[in-house]
Amino acid sequence: MSPDNFDLFADVEPEQPPRREQIGEQSWVLRGFALPLLDQLLPALEAVLAAAPFRQMVTPGGFTMSVALSSCGTLGWTTDRSGYRYTRHDPQTGQPWPAMPAVFFELAQAAAREAGFADFVPDSCLINRYAPGAKMSLHQDKDEGSFGAPIVSVSLGLPAMFLFGGFERSDKSQRVPLLHGDIVVWGGVDRLRYHGVLPIKQGHHPKLGEQRINFTFRTAQ
Ligand code: SIN
Ligand code: FE2
Repeated sequence: MSPDNFDLFADVEPEQPPRREQIGEQSWVLRGFALPLLDQLLPALEAVLAAAPFRQMVTPGGFTMSVALSSCGTLGWTTDRSGYRYTRHDPQTGQPWPAMPAVFFELAQAAAREAGFADFVPDSCLINRYAPGAKMSLHQDKDEGSFGAPIVSVSLGLPAMFLFGGFERSDKSQRVPLLHGDIVVWGGVDRLRYHGVLPIKQGHHPKLGEQRINFTFRTAQ
């Protein structure tokens, strides 16, 4: 390869080429699926965060989550001492949650389709920010009004070890390494599977710095 050709590839992400891995009957990891839209996703994310900045929330049990949260879409997932719920307004600003950027919606719908779920219409996008050391304990996503729609979960920035469990907290979990640009989709018979994230390791990502960002798209209502 001549030095000129080499330069052509200087901007290409070092992540794996797009590919689909099945991790459950109706659960898939779509490797690198978000990468082609990255240059549109990041400015849209910045605009959302300018209106609804990251904040650490408290669980009903009184623990402050290590992950910082924001949301966009009609409904935003929140937690405080009185419980988990979806709200139309950001409790911190009193304003409606920022609208879901079109590029977010399109990415989520395309990923759902790729995993076999046609016509996914998310009304909520939870945005999770993990600094090194932050984690997400095993849980089920079950605050939604119905479970007919899948979950679409986008990973950006630092790598994570995703835990994909069964239908009981005590079931053995698969460990699924997730890299920048990967998307996990689970729904149908797998919709209520336990899942979580091991503590994020120290590191620096060329585009996102010292953090992992996750978008979790859901149909809440
Ligand atoms: C979540 O389940 O809310 C987050 C999952 C992730 O960060 O990958
Ligand atoms: Fe979750």
